[in-house]
Amino acid sequence: MKKILILPGDGIGPEIVAEAVKVLDRLRADGLSVELEQGLVGGSAYDAKGHPLPEDTLVQARAADAILLGAVGGPQYESLDRPLRPEQGLLGLRAELKLFSNLRPAILYPQLAEASTLKPEVVSGLDIMIVRELTGGIYFGQPRGVRTLDNGEKEGFNTLVYRESEIERIGRSAFEIAQKRGKRLCSVDKANVLEVTELWRQVMLELAKDYPDVELSHMYVDNAAMQLVRAPKQFDVMVTTNLFGDILSDAAAMLTGSIGMLPSASLDADGKGMYEPIHGSAPDIAGQGVANPLATILSVAMMLRYSFGQPEPAERIEVAVGKVLDQGLRTPDIAAEGQASVGTAEMGDAVVAAL
Ligand code: IPM
Ligand code: MG
Repeated sequence: MKKILILPGDGIGPEIVAEAVKVLDRLRADGLSVELEQGLVGGSAYDAKGHPLPEDTLVQARAADAILLGAVGGPQYESLDRPLRPEQGLLGLRAELKLFSNLRPAILYPQLAEASTLKPEVVSGLDIMIVRELTGGIYFGQPRGVRTLDNGEKEGFNTLVYRESEIERIGRSAFEIAQKRGKRLCSVDKANVLEVTELWRQVMLELAKDYPDVELSHMYVDNAAMQLVRAPKQFDVMVTTNLFGDILSDAAAMLTGSIGMLPSASLDADGKGMYEPIHGSAPDIAGQGVANPLATILSVAMMLRYSFGQPEPAERIEVAVGKVLDQGLRTPDIAAEGQASVGTAEMGDAVVAAL
């Protein structure tokens, strides 16, 4: 029996995760052999235990086969010391569990072509996979901090650092995914300015020899940002650094109409993973029952596929999501102007019914 740790987190996290749990319960009733356990992370963990990533949660996370996380963060925590902020719960889990490979698919559901801010012909049929390095780069590089100079002026600094081995493992992850898709991989860097990404490019070129069936290309990150909104369908798989991936995946998400639709997987070398919607905790709408639970529900599908090797129930979830969109159900974030919308629980119930 596989063990799933459920970490609802903060803001809309508990609401959207509750809907994903309904989906899991439905699949369990149909014979999916998983057990669920709840844990605390982020601001809610800080409130209860004084730390965004309590030791208990880490123990639970290590023992679990997969983790489903809602979202973390909220304005009430922004004045805390950095190590106590909710985001450190998330970053700590990524680092402690060595979840270096972050898969962020951006798929446009045809039913939502009108919800994109881009013209339907630019985005229809969109299917991109962004592979973001998740445990290195400027997010974790040392030294970091804010120091006071001799003249009394303050100076902030972070370090962008990648070792060859870190680049190689995320590169292999991306090449392997490209092999299973359209066999085109675009590596995004800033090799014209940053030495570390010049090394990134060299390692990718070297790796390409092991994957002759994959066509490798390179793009500077500023151009990649532009190409994503100009002609996104030119991309199949993109691989990039932690920070560039953070930024590009938000842009890619919006191509699909709403950031509320996109799931993600963060995997270690053995396929153990943490699954979460790519959107944040949306404190502005928390507790109102209007958040879109589909990204979290689709994260369960990714979990079944990537950590449990169960493509059939994964597809069942994805088909069910397509059905509720066909039925015209829309949470406010994906509703067209003037279109009636449904709440979080109603959307979750509709997916369960469609299952
Ligand atoms: C994401 C988020 C996180 C990140 C934050 C919440 C720390 O933006 O998962 O993309 O920057 O990685
Ligand atoms: Mg982000």
